[in-house]
Amino acid sequence: MRVGIVGLGVVGLATGVVLAEQGHNIVGVDVDENKVEGLRCGRSPIYEPNLKEMLDANASRIKFTTDYSELSDADLVFITVSTPTVNGRIYLGYVFDAAKRLSDVLRRNDSIVVIKSTVVPGTARKVKEIVKNDVVSNPEFLREGSAILDTKRPDRVVIGSQSKEAGDVVENLWRFTGAPVIRTSWEEAEMIKYAANSFLAIKVSFINEIANLCERLPNCDVNVVAKTIGLDRRIAPYFLNAGLGWGGSCFPKDTQAFVSFARDMGERLRIVEAAIEVNRERVPRVVNMLKSLLTRGKVCVLGVAFKPNTDDTRESKAIELIRALKAEGYEVVAYDPKARTEEAKMVTLDECISSSDAVIIATEWDEFRGLEERLKDKITIDARRVLDPSKMEASKFRAIGLGVQT
Ligand code: UDX
Repeated sequence: MRVGIVGLGVVGLATGVVLAEQGHNIVGVDVDENKVEGLRCGRSPIYEPNLKEMLDANASRIKFTTDYSELSDADLVFITVSTPTVNGRIYLGYVFDAAKRLSDVLRRNDSIVVIKSTVVPGTARKVKEIVKNDVVSNPEFLREGSAILDTKRPDRVVIGSQSKEAGDVVENLWRFTGAPVIRTSWEEAEMIKYAANSFLAIKVSFINEIANLCERLPNCDVNVVAKTIGLDRRIAPYFLNAGLGWGGSCFPKDTQAFVSFARDMGERLRIVEAAIEVNRERVPRVVNMLKSLLTRGKVCVLGVAFKPNTDDTRESKAIELIRALKAEGYEVVAYDPKARTEEAKMVTLDECISSSDAVIIATEWDEFRGLEERLKDKITIDARRVLDPSKMEASKFRAIGLGVQT
């Protein structure tokens, strides 16, 4: 099929390369000329495992352009533009702009417009009014850091459509994944995406509150609690890692947009609101942990990406931590294997550790595991639980969710 992708962020690129690998011909459109130029030269605008390799391997079936008219005879076009939260509310301008431009260029009335961007319920219905062609809502559940894998092997494929035929086309496109397909209305598909992300954010905030309590109890470790409650299949072990809280391009903006959307509809999502509040308190708690051991000096923050295996720093808790430490008067240096920030001087791992009075682990990169020997004599806060507490000097070590060991 001829597949268009509008918006070349992580979702658009992962969708494009995976469908190209399946033999489809892809036209990727973005308004950012630099990004398109870079992609034409084989440069990936983001670090994402396997993305560069997939772009190279499927280059003959992928074309990048800023020109919407190249989509004029596409069989289907995915909208994968960003939907930022502005003043606590979702901003849908990029989605509607893409829809308007598609309505101008699509020559065939059987071209299908597929919305993959995260949008509040009711959006597909509005897009249909703009484009007139069939519209399908096909939300994406991929995680940064494993975007290609998640696109190829999703837990489920959600297809929200009014037209059965249009839904069938999109269902066939994803059949190779082998994932269960759930056919829904537009509104259900849109709601599923927000409910899924909010539930995961709630899970993390829940275990973070349990962690707070564990810190007050002798010999109590949240990791033991999380691992054990996770054995109950109704709870499941995933998204129960206590830490510095959730960040990234999705959870913070989606939970906020969902709460505002609900309020606009005359309802409250009190549990989601509480999860957001708990998440807001993570960084101040870690700063207080440090204060109990060191009141001034130089701090090394290990990790600035919002999570490992990505160079994405959007809404990164590590960067929020750096800002909070600076506001408290600490000098801050940082190290990350892939990500960069202007907020702190970026140095090598060795320099970060050796030049500082205290170390805080803010992102759980594998590279930070096994550092116990080097950190043993240093004030260390493990805010992502990557170190083995039994190998650390108790008087100089604090970790999220770990009570005093007696
Ligand atoms: C998320 C969803 O997982 C994905 O389905 C959706 O499509 C987009 O949003 P992503 O933002 O890439 O994906 O990251 P994810 O792995 O979900 O982690 C989100 C945040 O939660 C990160 O900051 C991570 O560090 C934090 N987290 C996650 C925890 O603190 N503890 C956990 O147990 C899991």
